[in-house]
Amino acid sequence: MSEHDFSSLHVVTHPLLQHKLSLMRDRKTPPILFRQLLREISLLLGYEVTRDLPLTTERIETPLVEMEAPVLACPLSIVSILRAGLGMAEGLQQLIPSAREGHIGLYRDPETKKPHEYFLKLPENPGRVLLVDPMLATGGSAAHAVDVLLRNGIAREDLRLVTLVCAPEGVQVFAKAHPDVPIYTAALDEKLNEKAYILPGLGDAGDRLFGTL
Ligand code: URA
Repeated sequence: MSEHDFSSLHVVTHPLLQHKLSLMRDRKTPPILFRQLLREISLLLGYEVTRDLPLTTERIETPLVEMEAPVLACPLSIVSILRAGLGMAEGLQQLIPSAREGHIGLYRDPETKKPHEYFLKLPENPGRVLLVDPMLATGGSAAHAVDVLLRNGIAREDLRLVTLVCAPEGVQVFAKAHPDVPIYTAALDEKLNEKAYILPGLGDAGDRLFGTL
């Protein structure tokens, strides 16, 4: 793939989504509203991310007749990268209440600078997996999280990365490591700053979500 291939990136645009994201970006937005908006946007993103879920049919009886009714053909799981991913998982869980949940906790080794997992719990038979992390900044954690999922038996074609805001640098790193894993996001921002924060971005999503500023 070329150095600037964004073909796996899907930027979901919708006036409601863009309006809500602007509210989230505003530094004056308090954690309680930030959390609510992240939940709402995740729900809207989830609608697009799940558009290609396979269906099968089940014979049911309506109050009037029998019919072959379309139902989801496979389970779905939401895997959050801790801790900011939890805020997105809330919204997706509201959209798909039958979804199973998993969690990956990662930290950056101060010596090697490489991500390592300190926590991992995945559902059995996860089916389609939505890996969630609001900020795709350097792309290192998300790429590593996919490595972890693949190592744990999840098929590449079952994976989708769901983010809120991406930096071009993060998209490049992730797409180079996993060109066949689609990325869904509400915004592709300008760039990373020297501290690896996304510009214009919205600051530290975990801190804003949990009020730990
Ligand atoms: N993580 C965040 O929460 N915000 C950024 O801008 C980059 C990484």
